[in-house]
Amino acid sequence: MSHIYLSLLCCLFCLAPCAAAYQQCILLSHSSQPGSGGRNGSLGSSGTSTSTGSSTSSLNNNTATHKPPSSNNSSSAPSLTPFAYGQDIIRGVNLGGWFVLEPWITPSVFESTNNSDIVDEFTLGQLLANETASSILQNHWETWYTEEDFIAMNAAGLNHVRIPVGYWSIPITSADTNLSTSVSPYVPGAWPYLLQALNWAKNNSLHVILDLHGAPGSQNGFDNSGQRTNSPEWANGNTNISRTLDIVRYIAKNIGGMIDVLELLNEPAAFDSNIDAALPQYWQQGYGVVRQAAGTDIQVMIEDGFLGVQNWENFLLYPDAEGVIMDTHEYQIFNYDQLALSLQGHINASCQQATGLISYAKSNLYTIIGEWSTAVTDCAKWLNGRGVGARWDGTWQPNQQVFGSCEGWTGNMSSFSDEYKTFLRQYWEVQAQMGEAIQGWVYWTWKAENADEWSYQRGLEGGWIPQDPTDWMYPNICASGN
Ligand SMILES: *[C@@H]1O[C@H](CO)[C@@H](O)[C@H](O)[C@H]1NC(C)=O
Ligand SMILES: *[C@@H]1O[C@H](CO)[C@@H](O)[C@H](O)[C@H]1NC(C)=O
Ligand SMILES: *[C@@H]1O[C@H](CO)[C@@H](O)[C@H](O)[C@H]1NC(C)=O
Ligand SMILES: *[C@@H]1O[C@H](CO)[C@@H](O)[C@H](O)[C@H]1NC(C)=O
Ligand SMILES: *[C@@H]1O[C@H](CO)[C@@H](O)[C@H](O)[C@H]1NC(C)=O
Ligand SMILES: *[C@@H]1O[C@H](CO)[C@@H](O)[C@H](O)[C@H]1NC(C)=O
Ligand SMILES: *[C@@H]1O[C@H](CO)[C@@H](O)[C@H](O)[C@H]1NC(C)=O
Ligand SMILES: *[C@@H]1O[C@H](CO)[C@@H](O)[C@H](O)[C@H]1NC(C)=O
Ligand SMILES: *[C@@H]1O[C@H](CO)[C@@H](O)[C@H](O)[C@H]1NC(C)=O
Ligand SMILES: *[C@@H]1O[C@H](CO)[C@@H](O)[C@H](O)[C@H]1NC(C)=O
Ligand SMILES: *[C@@H]1O[C@H](CO)[C@@H](O)[C@H](O)[C@H]1NC(C)=O
Repeated sequence: MSHIYLSLLCCLFCLAPCAAAYQQCILLSHSSQPGSGGRNGSLGSSGTSTSTGSSTSSLNNNTATHKPPSSNNSSSAPSLTPFAYGQDIIRGVNLGGWFVLEPWITPSVFESTNNSDIVDEFTLGQLLANETASSILQNHWETWYTEEDFIAMNAAGLNHVRIPVGYWSIPITSADTNLSTSVSPYVPGAWPYLLQALNWAKNNSLHVILDLHGAPGSQNGFDNSGQRTNSPEWANGNTNISRTLDIVRYIAKNIGGMIDVLELLNEPAAFDSNIDAALPQYWQQGYGVVRQAAGTDIQVMIEDGFLGVQNWENFLLYPDAEGVIMDTHEYQIFNYDQLALSLQGHINASCQQATGLISYAKSNLYTIIGEWSTAVTDCAKWLNGRGVGARWDGTWQPNQQVFGSCEGWTGNMSSFSDEYKTFLRQYWEVQAQMGEAIQGWVYWTWKAENADEWSYQRGLEGGWIPQDPTDWMYPNICASGN
């Protein structure tokens, strides 16, 4: 989830630049050779399979009671047919707030610390005793997602999960890097849970986009990078970037065979000049590192860095690279202009946005919308950071436009009006259709403790997200104009 400080409205409403006829990227698809890499046969739907008795232990801060999973090797799970990237549509959800904490996704984890200065995973490690921090996190890793969730995602017709992970959870050693291996004050230990998640995904016919969501020094300063800070230092000098490349190499080398897509970095804030300057080279080097360590069997995902995909024309295309996918994120709630849109205005904005994406995806990289949601306000508690209010109801910034009360817009869906739920369905559809018009979409997020307007799981329950994600109620929503 991102806090987009730039106005995206200019992109939303300008005409799509006329893309030159750049050579279409060619995805190296081992998927076109079923059976390669030892992967054959399809699992078929496991939507009817029953729970495997996932652990749902109650909160307990005794580290000794938390036994990390040991089944970390997916060779025991049945094989999964390779995905035909570029041909088949990616339909997925993000597993937000699991391996990178976000206060708004699991406020209870933050509340349990009794310390309002703990605003992200970094300060959680910094301000709590090690054993306490470790215990809280072990419990969280063990309970926030279980195999039940993977079973339900598969049953909902999804074919991908995007799993955000912080660099501090990747157990590289001094044999893997000449740079620091210290992750302090972050608490390490999530790796076995990640491996277990890869097993669950495979066992439930879900392909995996592994997404490096937090890099050393922070690549954007958002709490969702692990560290909320006004001065992200990822691109201050070359050390953190080199270290990130070593981490990417470790991932590709060690679990490249267990994932389908490796996303080199989430939401680098290219509106920061250092990050902007470093990013193209990082994508190129990261691509090379993955290909060298894991060959051509996995796709490499890069991002537009909030610049808009048009900023990445003619970048990493064949024959310079193969098997690269562009990820762009789409939220319409992180500035006042966007919040001021009417409900129909939000739908129109999505329709406009689609034009540019389709044009880019046709003549450049295959492209997905790797994060988007049905939220039209920033009302979810702590969405803008722990202790921070909302623009919507004026509880954050003084002397700004106030749009109304947050009541009925967030929280438990039992407070959502029928009219609102009808809109949520339309807004879900227009954005999903935008993703379907390119190479796919990944919704943010599968679940949140108390923000149902962001939750795919609640959307299914509440009926604004269909059980079959291509079951359109509004197939011509952009054409109809209203
Ligand atoms: C999968 O491949 C293995 C080894 O090549 C073979 O023994 C098995 O019969 C294949 N299974 C299917 C369903 O094709
Ligand atoms: C830690 O354990 C003690 C003793 O069992 C308990 O009183 C306390 O509430 C626990 N703290 C947390 C954060 O769970
Ligand atoms: C898998 O688990 C075993 C036993 O816990 C451990 O020795 C091994 O290093 C783990 N493998 C990976 C890739 O983490
Ligand atoms: C999983 O097990 C296979 C066979 O035992 C082994 O070759 C592979 O390296 C293991 N992978 C991981 C990630 O542990
Ligand atoms: C895969 O899922 C099935 C059905 O949920 C379960 O019985 C089995 O234990 C799982 N296998 C692995 C390796 O997780
Ligand atoms: C927070 O306060 C509760 C209630 O006093 C207590 O049980 C718990 O242990 C405290 N948590 C921490 C991390 O200190
Ligand atoms: C806490 O853990 C960090 C490394 O994770 C270590 O440097 C530090 O010494 C530990 N502190 C205590 C009190 O154990
Ligand atoms: C570490 O440094 C040595 C000597 O400079 C070099 O040969 C090696 O490739 C480096 N290793 C990594 C992982 O960068
Ligand atoms: C990131 O880079 C800065 C500047 O080189 C350095 O001071 C800092 O320690 C690095 N952070 C990490 C986590 O490596
Ligand atoms: C939402 O509200 C309903 C009705 O008040 C209640 O039954 C349900 O438990 C609530 N759900 C959550 C997750 O709090
Ligand atoms: C949405 O677009 C339609 C068709 O272009 C237009 O008629 C309508 O006025 C727009 N509504 C808003 C609120 O932008």
